[in-house]
Amino acid sequence: MKLWAGRMTGQVDEKLNALNASIGFDSRMYRQDIAGSIAHATMLGEVGVVTPEESAQIVEGLKGILAEIDSGALEIDMSCEDIHTFVEAELTKRIGAAGKKLHTGRSRNDQVALDVRLYLADQTERLIALAKELARAFVDVAKQHLHTVMPGYTHLQRAQPVTLAHYLMAYVQMLLRDIDRLADCRKRTLVSPLGSGALAGTTYPLDRRRVAELLGMNGIAENSLDGVSDRDFALELLGDLSILMMHLSRFSEEICMWCSWEFRFVTLSDAFSTGSSIMPQKKNPDITELVRGKTGRVYGDLTTLLTAMKALPLAYNKDMQEDKEALFDAIDTAALCLEVLAPMLRTAAFHPENMRKAAAGGFINATDCADYLVSKGIPFRDAYGITGALVRACVEQGTTLEQLPLETYKAASDAFDEGVYEAIDLLNCVNRRNLEGGPAPEAVQRQIACAEEKLK
Ligand code: ARG
Repeated sequence: MKLWAGRMTGQVDEKLNALNASIGFDSRMYRQDIAGSIAHATMLGEVGVVTPEESAQIVEGLKGILAEIDSGALEIDMSCEDIHTFVEAELTKRIGAAGKKLHTGRSRNDQVALDVRLYLADQTERLIALAKELARAFVDVAKQHLHTVMPGYTHLQRAQPVTLAHYLMAYVQMLLRDIDRLADCRKRTLVSPLGSGALAGTTYPLDRRRVAELLGMNGIAENSLDGVSDRDFALELLGDLSILMMHLSRFSEEICMWCSWEFRFVTLSDAFSTGSSIMPQKKNPDITELVRGKTGRVYGDLTTLLTAMKALPLAYNKDMQEDKEALFDAIDTAALCLEVLAPMLRTAAFHPENMRKAAAGGFINATDCADYLVSKGIPFRDAYGITGALVRACVEQGTTLEQLPLETYKAASDAFDEGVYEAIDLLNCVNRRNLEGGPAPEAVQRQIACAEEKLK
């Protein structure tokens, strides 16, 4: 029988059921639904809306249901409309009349808003832990490559020398901001809508703040219409996860490129590589291609909810039931990507010699060559021009700045002397960039110490 069988007596069309029912996806919130009901029933007993005995009976009944779903002894009945309906019906089956009092002063509108908030808060905690784990993997690998010189790029053209450690620590900064954003969003998620009722509160003397306190939440929705119709916290999470996935997709793209024979900066372990069904030589970075691809999926989830919420009149509308599948998909996707990248990174074999070769071939010490002339009193613009001409000569002769004989330097400018070779040595170029945030090993070590402190 349907929950609303008082008002309507006709049978519901099967097709409406398929469209309307949400138990197929919202059953994963059963823990939060039961926790919310336990808090509500406890409060109902405290304020005298139900007797202390009834309250205790409800709480015991709910605890039993939770334990049995957890253990697998009780199967969720997928013919129910949603998880809220199932739990309430199961409770009444077990304890009778008192079970029918659980929903006093409550609507599924404030109930579902609460369940989603509690579920997202739990999942956000898990996502933060996973993001920290990935950040730790970046840090640990970075520690091994403080002196691994590689070309830094702009426009995907070799630009200036950095180290692999410096490069990896850039991704740690992104993850630290992701973690910050998630933690901040979680604060706004832990606000209790219970007591908002269907939309206009209730005439029962509920203690809304007590329910929030029992659930460990930070406060209550200050307006009942907003309480049932606000999904900002869900959109925020989807926004945060979109940014997180954007970061993972940038790293993934680089790994895809670095695995190519053109770069050959890294080889993924066999455990994180796939082969081809036809080309025997292939070892493919499917893992990072999939993370890159799944990013579009999370953006899609954000767009789904933004679009569902657009122009919705106050207060609750059934459109909002569409929040869950988008949220669950984004959470599952982001969690899986974080989980798989951490061990992939830890087991990857980086190739410092190839990075060094790429660094040597890219004239990435040209800026340092010009700076050297500046130190000899040549104005920067002139130094820039002189160095540019030397690079052009190198390109024509297929050589590098390091290999140019001193006579060639002297012919370009008599400010050059033997010291130029020391000035353009790649390791020296990196070591001199030792200001805060720079690629010099000591500067990166400071970044690492700071990140490790935040990741504790
Ligand atoms: N399954 C619904 C949802 O996820 C619960 C709220 C139902 N409220 C209602 N007025 N029909 O949004």
